[in-house]
Amino acid sequence: MSMDQKTYANLIRQAWEARKMAYAPYSGFLVGAALLTPDGSVYRGCNIENAAFSPTNCAERTAFFKALSEGKRHFSAIAVVGGMRECKEDEIDYVYPCGVCRQVMAEFCGEEFVIVAAISPEDYRVHSLKELLPEAFGFREGEAKP
Ligand code: THU
Repeated sequence: MSMDQKTYANLIRQAWEARKMAYAPYSGFLVGAALLTPDGSVYRGCNIENAAFSPTNCAERTAFFKALSEGKRHFSAIAVVGGMRECKEDEIDYVYPCGVCRQVMAEFCGEEFVIVAAISPEDYRVHSLKELLPEAFGFREGEAKP
């Protein structure tokens, strides 16, 4: 699927909307993600923290698990935005998916899956999953899964 600036800008706007739902009372770092499927559906996700810390779910995985639990199995791109709760516009930096989220992406996406680390609809960086998780662990297509 070829993607243009308009597609990225729309996903980034939706990721900023999703960030408003973040539950991050412990870190104060609010993250939003918007996941695009080849049929044009967009699934939004935010980070959801927990007092016990390890149950925390990142925005990216929230978006993936929402889509997967509704039967989606093919994915085109994800946009990610984030920053501290009260951060000013000039304090926003690119947010990249953590290693756990990259591994979840590798389970369901091809190497050309697009990851958009964004500050605004005009300011973003585009990467492939292959770039961000080279030599990923996984079972090959057709290989029996345990
Ligand atoms: N977080 C995400 O939601 N996505 C990322 O890509 C990086 C980290 C969340 C997890 C935690 O709630 C907070 O940001 C601080 O690590």
